[in-house]
Amino acid sequence: MSAKPFNDNFLKACRGEEHSHVPVWYMRQAGRYQAEYRKIREKYSLFEITHRPEVCAEVTMLPIHQLDVDAAILFADIMTPMPAMGIDVEIKSSIGPVIANPITGKGDVEKLRKLEPSEHVPYILDTIKLLREELRVPLIGFAGAPFTLASYLIEGGPSRNYYKTKAFMHSDPEAWHLLMDRLGEMTVTYLKAQMAAGAQAVQVFDSWVGALNAQDYAQFVAPIMNRIFSELEEESAPKIMFGVGAGHLLHEWDRLPLDVIGLDWRTPISFARGQGVTKTVQGNLDPGLLLASWPEIEKKTRGILDEGMQTPGFIFNLGHGVYPQVQVETLQRLTAFIHEYSAKNN
Ligand code: CP3
Repeated sequence: MSAKPFNDNFLKACRGEEHSHVPVWYMRQAGRYQAEYRKIREKYSLFEITHRPEVCAEVTMLPIHQLDVDAAILFADIMTPMPAMGIDVEIKSSIGPVIANPITGKGDVEKLRKLEPSEHVPYILDTIKLLREELRVPLIGFAGAPFTLASYLIEGGPSRNYYKTKAFMHSDPEAWHLLMDRLGEMTVTYLKAQMAAGAQAVQVFDSWVGALNAQDYAQFVAPIMNRIFSELEEESAPKIMFGVGAGHLLHEWDRLPLDVIGLDWRTPISFARGQGVTKTVQGNLDPGLLLASWPEIEKKTRGILDEGMQTPGFIFNLGHGVYPQVQVETLQRLTAFIHEYSAKNN
């Protein structure tokens, strides 16, 4: 065990407080770009990893040791709680979640079961407890948001244009809202259980909600997001909201009782501020840039830091997850650069 002091820069940034350097973590910081992860995956599927707290904690900690990031994110998937609700899901390599029994109507929604975390996902709670004994950085828990989860459940897998989801939403609003309620209830229950087990912050992934225009978002999604964050308001752990291509929804998110807004790579920090975002922001280097040469990466990173550091509390991240093709050395160098540059220019 190391005697390293606890690094709370990430939690301070979430709360908009001054910190000694800009904290950084990366979405998908544990994954296939790491040889150690690929080796573990030869033996276990993604679900098998998450069902084994010791293996799952080891995978969660890989990037902490390797990259020196300022936060850990629980290794799991947004689909992890779905089997407990009655969804037959498999995570297929290079595809994503594939559902054997997609939702086609109200009857399917009514059949969805309630998540009881200690009964259905005890392994997740055990992994969190194990991690808290080991980690010297904060642990981020997470859950999928109703729209993004519903898109998988209705489409049956990943989608480009979400037409089945949109058709469902517009043709049977009552069933849609029931589906949002059931999934939203899961999100709240699951996140509360993660925080009770020791997660010190949580991120809600609404990765694909940017597919909706602002009007449909307001009608079909905003009510459940309001409810989720009001039900989580009493929890002291900071809450982060993230979606891809959601620049047109940022003003809605800024009104919610949450702490941090995650920006994708197409949403400049200045644009977000121009939209009225007052909260701490997290982001947003284009993950594709990690495959470019170092001078380009450094230049773009410097630009993001210069903008982000104009307000106290900024968290560096990518605009979406790390690609499997990225070199570990690139992320090591990037992390060191962010720490050094932000400490010097504070
Ligand atoms: O390090 C971390 O970020 C924590 C682990 C994590 C995973 N999934 C593991 C995973 C997290 C936070 C997620 C969230 C998740 N899962 C989201 C929201 C974030 C985002 O990317 O927008 C979504 C939409 C999913 C659904 C999902 N699961 C997709 C689209 C894929 C990718 C398919 C692929 O192979 O590229 C998955 C699979 C998945 N989840 C992997 C990992 C590490 C792929 C690696 C593997 O098969 O071992």
